[in-house]
Amino acid sequence: MEQRTLGGQGLRVSALGLGCMGMTFAYGGQDDTESRATIERAIELGVTFLDTADMYGPHTNEELLGSVLAGRRDEVVLATKFGNEIGPDGQGTGRVNGRPDYLRGQIDGSLARLGTDHVDLYYQHRVDPDVPIEETWGALGELVEAGKVRYLGISEAAPDTIRRAHATAPMSAVQTEYSLFTRDVEDNGVLATCRELGIGFVPYSPIGRGFLSGTIRRTEDLPEGDWRRNSPRFQGEALQANLRVLDEVNALAERKGVTPTQLALAWVLAQGSDVAPIPGTKRRRYLEENAGAADVTLTAEELEAIEKVAPVGVASGERYPAAAMRMLHQ
Ligand SMILES: NC(=O)c1ccc[n+]([C@@H]2O[C@H](COP(=O)([O-])OP(=O)(O)OC[C@H]3O[C@@H](n4cnc5c(N)ncnc54)[C@H](OP(=O)(O)O)[C@@H]3O)[C@@H](O)[C@H]2O)c1
Repeated sequence: MEQRTLGGQGLRVSALGLGCMGMTFAYGGQDDTESRATIERAIELGVTFLDTADMYGPHTNEELLGSVLAGRRDEVVLATKFGNEIGPDGQGTGRVNGRPDYLRGQIDGSLARLGTDHVDLYYQHRVDPDVPIEETWGALGELVEAGKVRYLGISEAAPDTIRRAHATAPMSAVQTEYSLFTRDVEDNGVLATCRELGIGFVPYSPIGRGFLSGTIRRTEDLPEGDWRRNSPRFQGEALQANLRVLDEVNALAERKGVTPTQLALAWVLAQGSDVAPIPGTKRRRYLEENAGAADVTLTAEELEAIEKVAPVGVASGERYPAAAMRMLHQ
């Protein structure tokens, strides 16, 4: 698997990573045995950039990774996140917390659950509008000095926040949603700011939360209790409009002789050597298919054809329900 460099501090990751969130959180159908086998297979295939967060569960996702990685911690680049506040009862509060005393407690909890003495990449998951970013990032810089964290990142932040955080402690990666259906970072200044400052970019949900695979055509295709049932993009008229675009993307994949998911991932990979997407799956079958995308090269003509059917802003419906949308781009 190709290795890519994120940022100017020396972080090297596999070009394709593995998003572990859905193994225990947000998406229905938990199967710990298959999830463990998927992580092990990922390592075999060289997909060693693993993504989790304290909030996924909460805590169960980090615990799952910790148990699989026992004795083989050094074979992976481990990324986790803090900031979606978890209360003393171990449940999410629905708030964001960027206070230094809070994050100092969170990193110690993450290290214990992951069974390691350091995290390779530690992200601020959401920006706390009530705490100056310099305060949060001052404390993050201290975690690097203490050796608990090797590299720092931020998720879903606005350009000015990225700039101020990076000026406080060097930032290696920005993680934000980015796919053929969610190209906002191309025109809201986020990608341009990363490039100007030499910060790597990690697209999350690069398969459009599974939509671009073509396997979800009705809201009812999603398991009971699945988070996506509440996502505006997977409902009503927006879903119908998105399916029309999807059919055109699928036709391009067929012409190329690759699966729709491979086309979607190859497109993200083609956006630059400073980009390392983290497609999520809890199945070996999908993981193997997705890893194949690393060998798919898109020609200029193919990229142009994709551009025609899936330009910036093509998706219908917001990517989160209203309350969660307000927590983005702070
Ligand atoms: N920073 C943030 O705020 C944030 C937000 C969301 C996600 N993330 C991170 O990004 C990672 C990836 O995002 P995501 O999981 O939301 O979305 P995604 O990678 O776009 O899609 C994942 C979905 O696609 C399905 N899938 C994967 N490969 C497939 C294939 N070859 N064929 C058919 N279906 C396939 C998965 O199914 P199965 O699960 O059934 O295998 C899952 O339902 C997450 O795991 C998480 O680590 C970060």
